Amino acid sequence: MDTILTPPSEEMLLKAADIIRAGGLVGFPTETVYGLGGDATNESAVRAIFHAKGRPADNPLIVHVADAEKLPMLCRVTQTAERLISAFWPGPLTLLMQKTPLVPDVTTAGLASVAVRCPAHPIARRLIALSGTFIAAPSANLSGRPSPTTAAHVYADMKGRIPMILDGGACQVGVESTVCDLTGDVPVILRPGAVTRDMIASEVGDCLVAGSVMRPLREGESAPSPGMKHRHYAPKGKLTIVRGEKKRVIDTISRLYDQADNACILCGESRIKCYRNRICRILGDTPEEAENHLFTLLREMDDRGIAHIFAEGFAESDDSLAVMNRMARAAAFDIIDV
Ligand code: TXA
Ligand code: MG
Repeated sequence: MDTILTPPSEEMLLKAADIIRAGGLVGFPTETVYGLGGDATNESAVRAIFHAKGRPADNPLIVHVADAEKLPMLCRVTQTAERLISAFWPGPLTLLMQKTPLVPDVTTAGLASVAVRCPAHPIARRLIALSGTFIAAPSANLSGRPSPTTAAHVYADMKGRIPMILDGGACQVGVESTVCDLTGDVPVILRPGAVTRDMIASEVGDCLVAGSVMRPLREGESAPSPGMKHRHYAPKGKLTIVRGEKKRVIDTISRLYDQADNACILCGESRIKCYRNRICRILGDTPEEAENHLFTLLREMDDRGIAHIFAEGFAESDDSLAVMNRMARAAAFDIIDV
């Protein structure tokens, strides 16, 4: 199959909507990461998404809507959801609620809940509106690869597997949406993102974070979200995270780097000079900058065949949870506190 990589002109958006309506797949930009979209109500389109990504069939998809109006077709909308929707949609917040029969079991991997999100990116919303349906879209990477934050990343993974990729430039956020479970009494964050626990709690009074967000699953513990049990974002090289007091972090990373072959350091821009002539790439001085750069850097490490990656970590806080969750998983939880 030839894969067209194209700017999202109105003509191409209409073509993309035709592809979705006919049960085909389209790569498209959102404000978080690129999505691999297909008609969420069409079982064979949904199966094609799993096939194109090589995704395990037990890992459910997020259903994307152009606005909240038609949401009752997909799920039983709770009062808590209504508050969060008016505060954070369109935006990087995915909500889990009881699904309706319109949503096929393949889309939710047999679960009784469905994940729904209204993306803020104008191209994503236009595509959903033009297609006249709901768009199931996981991140548009091959399963196990970092999520794509540019159309070139999507092309690298999906070339020959899907007919079209809409190029909307680099994604603004850079990590995937917050996934928040609303099926219990209190909202629970299953995957942290740009909409943080504190932001949710300030709207609805309370919000918990699933325990396994910052540690590996314990023996016999089931994953709060199926996606969390699968290996994620793993670079080919070995990633080690070092965090703590600035000088100790720099000393530790410098020492580890000097002992390793074919290594690279991911650090804050303001600290590059502290690592002297060692090879460094800019992760960022703030969690927000790091969110923006992380997945691109992990792909670059793979492309350059880097064997050892040493990254500066951030102290645990409401702001840093999203990027540290991704980094910890990419490092298989190899975190050194100094
Ligand atoms: O930012 C995003 O959310 C991107 C863009 C494209 O919207 N999408 C995305 O989808 O990251 P994906 O499939 O890569 O991640 C969805 C996560 C997975 O960890 C999945 O297990 C979880 O959401 N999930 C989806 N439906 C669920 C459900 N019914 N119950 C529990 N977890 C669910
Ligand atoms: Mg994904």
